[in-house]
Amino acid sequence: MLRNTESTYGKVTIIIHWLMVLMVVTLLTVGFIMADMDKGATRDSIIGLHKASGFVLLLLALFRWYWTLSGQNPKPIEGMTKAEIGISHAAKWTLLLLLLIMPISGVLMSMYFGYGISVYGLFEIPSFLAKNKDLGEAFEEIHEVIAYILIAVFCTTCCSRLKTSFYKQRQYTQPNARQII
Ligand code: HEM
Repeated sequence: MLRNTESTYGKVTIIIHWLMVLMVVTLLTVGFIMADMDKGATRDSIIGLHKASGFVLLLLALFRWYWTLSGQNPKPIEGMTKAEIGISHAAKWTLLLLLLIMPISGVLMSMYFGYGISVYGLFEIPSFLAKNKDLGEAFEEIHEVIAYILIAVFCTTCCSRLKTSFYKQRQYTQPNARQII
């Protein structure tokens, strides 16, 4: 079943979800490592890979928005309080928003510094913005701050998902419900 239903997530959502989790964790780790590296060819090639993968993640995030808004989503699990449902919804939508802002800030940072994006050497997206060092530095700052916010919301979502699993184990759930974790 490709689409989500009232009680379960579909295959497309599940595959994209885990692909994005894997990519975000890698991009965050590599991002912090490369920010501390000395300038040179190694750092440049790692930044190139980071930018290409970040761009792919942007496309996945856009698709995820389309997929979530164009279909139905599973109802909250029975037994959860209104506050828990609210927090879990807020965390989900904040995360989806951050997963757009994060790569967009990276693209704007690169372009304002005057660089395009080579997508794994397959094709090049040229910079279509006029070079502006101040704006480049502003988006560099935004890119870093959003990374920390992303980590905080990511951890909150993980805790919320673990709690959902707990409800599931305690059999407060709909019997056929299948959560992402
Ligand atoms: C969700 C996607 C992304 C994540 C999670 C991510 C994460 C990060 C992190 C954690 C850093 C280190 C920040 C610091 O300590 O200064 C970083 C740096 C960087 N990111 Fe990203 N990034 C993403 C997407 C992108 C994209 C799409 C681009 C450009 C097309 C990009 C370009 C850069 C560049 C150039 C740096 C190095 C800044 C510097 O230190 O000179 N990132 N990224």
